[in-house]
This record gives sequence, C-alpha cells and structure tokens, in this order.
Amino acid sequence: MKISYQEIHQQKNPILPEPLEFGKTSTDHLFLMDYYDKEWKNPRIVNYCDLHVRPGTKAIHYGQSAFEGAKAFKHEDGEIYTFRIDENAKRMNNSAKILMMPSIPKDFQIEAIHSLINVDRHWVPDSNKGSLYIRPFLFGSGSSLGVHPSNNYIYSIILKPSGSYFKEGFSPGKLLITNKFHRAAPGGTGAAKASENYAASLRPGELARKFGANQVLYLDVNNKFVEEAGAMNHYHVLKDGTIIIPEWTDTILKSITSKSVLELSKIHGFKARQEHIRINDFLEGIKSGEIIEAGGLGTAAVIAPIGKYFLLKDDIINEKTLDNILDDKIPKDELGQFYDEIIVGNGSIGSITKNIYQTYTNIQRGNIPAPNGWLMKVEKTFSK
Ligand SMILES: Cc1ncc(COP(=O)(O)O)c(C=O)c1O
Repeated sequence: MKISYQEIHQQKNPILPEPLEFGKTSTDHLFLMDYYDKEWKNPRIVNYCDLHVRPGTKAIHYGQSAFEGAKAFKHEDGEIYTFRIDENAKRMNNSAKILMMPSIPKDFQIEAIHSLINVDRHWVPDSNKGSLYIRPFLFGSGSSLGVHPSNNYIYSIILKPSGSYFKEGFSPGKLLITNKFHRAAPGGTGAAKASENYAASLRPGELARKFGANQVLYLDVNNKFVEEAGAMNHYHVLKDGTIIIPEWTDTILKSITSKSVLELSKIHGFKARQEHIRINDFLEGIKSGEIIEAGGLGTAAVIAPIGKYFLLKDDIINEKTLDNILDDKIPKDELGQFYDEIIVGNGSIGSITKNIYQTYTNIQRGNIPAPNGWLMKVEKTFSK
C-alpha cells in the first residue's frame, strides 16, 4: 500500500513547551487508515485533526479498541531512531487478535510510523530534553449496536514529544497493595493493550493517589500472586543482585521493557529471570532483607523505582469508605489508619535499578551499542 500525503504543512522550528510534559504536546500531523470490505485502505498522512466518529461507534459502546506506546530518540548525529518498534507492531496484532480486530502487516505498521515521524521530525526533542512518544491506535468504527465485532476499523498514529517521566529527577515512588481491585481476569483481555483495561484501572489508580501512592500493585484475582505495577510490569531485586519479573500470563501485558531487560542481562552481565511471585513471599522478602530493590518497568519511565508499599487494610474499608476517600471526605491526616507501610531496603534507589536505567537509556540514545535490530533509523524519504 502506498501512503498518500494530504495537505502537509510543516512547522520547521516548532517551539516545545518547557517543561515538556508527557503526552500533552501534539505534532503537526497524524496517520490514518480505514478498514472496510475486509481490507485496509487509504493509508494517509494528514494535518493533525479531530476524528469524526458516528454515535454508535463500537469502540465507544463496547470498548473494541487497543493502542501501543513506543519511543523515538534523536541521537548526537541528528538522526532519529525508533526503539524496538517491531515489538510494538507485533503486540498491536496480538491485541487485535484478542479483541477480534483485523491485524495490520507488521512491516506496514513500521513504515507508517516511520513515515509520520519523518514528516514531523522537527518535533523530536534533543536527547537531553526527552524523546518522541509514539501512540498507534486501532478501534472498531462501525456503528451498528449489536454486540459483535465491528465491520469497520480505523488505525491511526499520533506523536507526542515528551520530557522525562521523572519530573523531579529519578526518585523512588510508592505502590498501594489491595485485594479490592483487579486489572484483569484469566481468560480476559489483560494480555492485550486494550483500552478497556485502562478504564478499569482509573478508579483504583485514583484511590492510590489519595493515599499518596503513584499506582496500585495489582494482584491476581485470588490475591496470591504479584501481577502488574499500574501500567508497568513489576520487578524486584534479590540480595544477590538477581532481577525477578513476574512470569507473563494472560492477565499481564508482555512488556517490551521487561523483555529487553531480560535480553540485556545476557549481554551486560546482570542476572534476571521470570517467576510466579507470591505476594506473601514478596512482602516477607522485603521484611527479611532478601529483597533489596523493587519497582516498575515500562516504556514511559523505563524503570520506576519503588521505595515504599502501602498495604491497604481491606477488611475495614467498605464501599462507602472508598467513596468517602475518593471524594476527599476523609481528611488526609486520617488516612494513615487504613494502611500499613513497608519500606524496600532503605527506601532509596538501589544500584541495580540505577544501572539498568543508565544502560537502557544509553542504548536508546545511541551512547552505547544496541543489540541488533533494536534501533531503526527514520529515513528522510518523504517527498511531497
Ligand atoms: C499494563 C501495562 N503493563 C506493562 C506495560 C509496560 O510495557 P512496555 O514496556 O512495552 O511499555 C505497560 C505499558 O505499556 C502497560 O500498560
């Protein structure tokens, strides 16, 4: 398929806001492609615009919608490189399969992403200021109200120049542990980057913030195993330096960052593996000093260290209390009665976490060699 370029207007020197916040600033263009009559058609790059959808759109009513999140970096030589974009394209097709949506050839997804970045290359921040966040998304755009897969789809890509995830420097966060909320259930859509999973995480995420935590550490539906750290995979580090990441199941998103850390461990001489992690063993490990570091892994932050876990006293919180906490009807200084606190190590960022962050971001920014195929140059092939 040939991508058409429609009414391209490029700002040669866009002024990026300072500080550059995550996901707020849009570039000049977006990519669009339609699916109907069982075929992808009309791939095009257009000026950034609203998308007009019909009131019965399946994505709105039944959540048939998935997305991806990737990054591109400007290197010292001024060239732009996407990072592991083929993995994002593969995962998009896995999400499409789970949500009964049509797949998009992997190489075509990469071509579409690279073509759009090429048009908007002036928007990519210098590497000391941030990166270009890439958000491809796919949704059912058909408008009949029957609960069936849509016949029509839209695939689109938007780009967001973004600054560092750590606004106040690389600092440890906090996670809330609760039995009350779950992100995903076996046989469901947890392994897809499905929009609905994020809707389900909004209320627990807000609750975590009321307690001063960044996110929820999600457990499996039986409250036995560690699953995800909000919108990141979870990790912890044993005393001997081994990094442990929960084994992927159909309730955990297969993080490209986790996959990369596991692959890097073989090259850069650190130890990493996956396991099913019992929450009780995890908490015991922190208390005994067997676990010395912990946190989250994901594209936005790369690695987000966690210094403290708040254990919600689920038994004393009923639905009314939850509403009162969420509606700020309980004073902040009284919220301490609802949780116990547990500190990882001495609560600061450990050396393994720092090392992974440095190694990973240096690879992304071209300061140290990347494993074969991880970085793909965005060629200057566009001609109007
Ligand atoms: C639920 C969830 N888990 C894990 C991740 C981390 O995945 P990745 O490393 O591919 O960004 C994300 C973010 O994309 C996520 O939304």
